[in-house]
Amino acid sequence: MKIIVANDPEDAARKAADLIESVVREEPDCTLGLATGSSPVGMYRELARRHKEEDLDFSGISSVNLDEYVGLDGTHEQSYRYFMNDNLFDHINIDKEKTYVAKGTGDIEANLKEFNEILDKTDIRIQVLGVGPDGHLGFNEPGDTLYDKAHEETLDDSTIEANKRFFATKEDVPTKALTMGMGNIMRAQSLLMIIGGNKEEAARRLLIEDKIDPRCPATFMRMHRDATVIIEKELADKIGYTP
Ligand code: GLP
Repeated sequence: MKIIVANDPEDAARKAADLIESVVREEPDCTLGLATGSSPVGMYRELARRHKEEDLDFSGISSVNLDEYVGLDGTHEQSYRYFMNDNLFDHINIDKEKTYVAKGTGDIEANLKEFNEILDKTDIRIQVLGVGPDGHLGFNEPGDTLYDKAHEETLDDSTIEANKRFFATKEDVPTKALTMGMGNIMRAQSLLMIIGGNKEEAARRLLIEDKIDPRCPATFMRMHRDATVIIEKELADKIGYTP
């Protein structure tokens, strides 16, 4: 696992954007695996800037997202489809027809089938990841066992608690989500995680402890042959990480 310490969130965003940019320039028709949450927002802003000012071309790029809340339509402001349009797709020249975010409303079984069919035929060149405070990846919550493929997940209370900041009340946070499975994530050619803020527990378990633990799904990243973690210096210092 390659670990890069960034000076601050802006530096982390630039370093992450560098990695995505090199992939997009080298393989202009590849599929990006994308993530939501606050961690990748700065990177998306930087990629949009590079598109506008430095001709970074997304016209041949496809994408598939990690997850989506069950119960939120893509027009809902807190849906991950809306997030992706708002934070990235509306600001670059990607063909939205080639972007995929699982559907959270309607026939959930059929939506999951579609999600898995897409994943089965897609070779994800690089998968962007954030991490939940409980160590979840996508919405793969900690447990005795993890899932290989896309599935419906019941969100842990700590996840609902962490994500309630985006909703009017805690009761408005969906309790279920569709998410890529851990196998889908691990099959991506490369992984890119951005971690900062208050994720001490997850960062410690990912970067310091030598354990692969389904109770901290992020630790599975350690087994990937091409994984990069960009960690903000403040967090690296807090957990005592030294390169
Ligand atoms: C949600 C998403 C995750 C994301 C996590 C952390 O739960 N499903 O994919 O990594 O939030 O978000 P943040 O980056 O805002 O801390």
